Amino acid sequence: MKGIKGKVAFITGGNSGIGKTTALAFAREGAKVALAARRESLGNEVVEEIKKLGGEAIFIKTDVQKPEQIEAAVSKTVETFGSLDFGFNNAGILNPLGTIDKLSLEDWNDSVKTNLTGVWLSMKYEIRQMVKQGSGIIVNNSSTHGLISTPFGVSPYDATKHGVIGITKSCAMENAKRGIRANVICPGEINTPMMDVIDKTNIDPARILARQPMGRGGEPEEVAEMVIFLCSDGASFMNGSTIVIDGGLTAT
Ligand SMILES: NC(=O)c1ccc[n+]([C@@H]2O[C@H](COP(=O)([O-])OP(=O)(O)OC[C@H]3O[C@@H](n4cnc5c(N)ncnc54)[C@H](OP(=O)(O)O)[C@@H]3O)[C@@H](O)[C@H]2O)c1
Repeated sequence: MKGIKGKVAFITGGNSGIGKTTALAFAREGAKVALAARRESLGNEVVEEIKKLGGEAIFIKTDVQKPEQIEAAVSKTVETFGSLDFGFNNAGILNPLGTIDKLSLEDWNDSVKTNLTGVWLSMKYEIRQMVKQGSGIIVNNSSTHGLISTPFGVSPYDATKHGVIGITKSCAMENAKRGIRANVICPGEINTPMMDVIDKTNIDPARILARQPMGRGGEPEEVAEMVIFLCSDGASFMNGSTIVIDGGLTAT
């Protein structure tokens, strides 16, 4: 896609699932990739995979709950590759599941710190660099849980994912005249390690499958393609948009 080759993509949660697949897709399109997440061994494996494909990548051990680590990761990216053109703020958790009356305040705070504050902080440091450059594109990863809920005990996830849509719109409005675009994606159920959380509960997987209009969940590649498009020249007039990638789930 036009506008990706030679640019620099910074991906939080780039060592697994949707983030990993998107990192590989960016590399395939000729972008340099910086991965920020906690599990170093997984991150290094993705870097090796990208290098084998002839691409350039680094892993920066980062906890998105820690502002100083995000700031350092953004600096390291710019130091290594010279710019930060795309920020894919994707790190997130779905854990643990439980009804509001049973979940602890710690569970709530953990989700808020990673899924919402982590995205806000990532944007904060990315935007500072993008303003210096006079250009940049942000894609935040929300969920269909940013639009609707389920009866599976996901209130922290619902709240934070609704919030991600809100702060993406704020970002789009604040930066529209500064050469920066921001959009948010809402994937439906995607086959990644995050879905293992469901396997550990007594929720019948058939119940989840029955909700899918296409009779299947999505694959991470089906999300990665949209992220790449949103960062490409083809999406030059897309700003503040909420893009649903859910096989029709929210249309039911
Ligand atoms: N799978 C789905 O059905 C689905 C649907 C809609 C939206 N999403 C969203 O997609 C995003 C990626 O999830 P996934 O499905 O690809 O699951 P995943 O494979 O479990 O990936 C989650 C990623 O987030 C990172 N992460 C979690 N906490 C972090 C922290 N404190 N600091 C830095 N990185 C952190 C993880 O890396 P480390 O643990 O190594 O830090 C991992 O790379 C999440 O935001 C999720 O909510 C997923």
